Amino acid sequence: MRIYECADYHAMSRRAANLISAQVILQPDCVLGLATGATPVGLYDQLVEWYRKGDLSFAETRTVNLDEYLGLAPTHRQSYRYFMQKHLFDHIDIKLENTHVLNGLAPDPQAECAAYNRLIRDLGGIDLQLLGMGHNGHIAFNEPSDNFGLETHVVNLSESTIDANQRFFASREEVPRQALSMGIKNIMHARRILVVVGGADKADMVCKAFTGPVTSQVPASVLQLHPDVTLVGDRAALSRLKEAGVSVCG
Ligand code: F6R
Repeated sequence: MRIYECADYHAMSRRAANLISAQVILQPDCVLGLATGATPVGLYDQLVEWYRKGDLSFAETRTVNLDEYLGLAPTHRQSYRYFMQKHLFDHIDIKLENTHVLNGLAPDPQAECAAYNRLIRDLGGIDLQLLGMGHNGHIAFNEPSDNFGLETHVVNLSESTIDANQRFFASREEVPRQALSMGIKNIMHARRILVVVGGADKADMVCKAFTGPVTSQVPASVLQLHPDVTLVGDRAALSRLKEAGVSVCG
């Protein structure tokens, strides 16, 4: 695993955007697995800036997003489809039909999940999967549990995730209680994984995930078993990891 330590959020976003743009430049028709949340906003801004400068094109790139709230329409301001349009897709030359986000209004959520698994396979798998990490160690919406959710599935959000995500909604009551999410198997089958984590509040979990036992109680810990993971973090998020003796590059 490669670990890059960055001075702050801006530097972290730039470094992560560099790694994504390298992937797109080397393989223009690659399949990018994308994430939402607060963490990737800065890196998406950076990708948009490089696209506007003419340094980057997404004309042939395909994307699959990790997850979507169940019950939210794609046009809902807190839906992940809306997020992706707002922060990335509306500002670059990607073809809309090449962008894939689970449908939160699917009449049959199980069928939607099965179709998403087929879609990922039909695209040839994910070349580079971007991940954030929850305070409880979740990746996508794979919450701490007694077993790893393997492929795309319906998830009951944990109380801690509902708490963490209420900042995006008018009230806690409005946060959906369920989501559709890629599973650990979908993520682990990605050829390369890029994890981006910022902030002192995630330092303990980062350390636990990357130095502790591999357990479904800390879903991100499974990444220790993946052969090609890059972790990009700011100083605060990597502080405990460094205290534990893990070496990082600047
Ligand atoms: C989002 C996702 C989540 C977030 C995680 C961290 O698509 O899959 O796992 O990456 O909750 O969120 P932030 O970046 O808001 O701390």
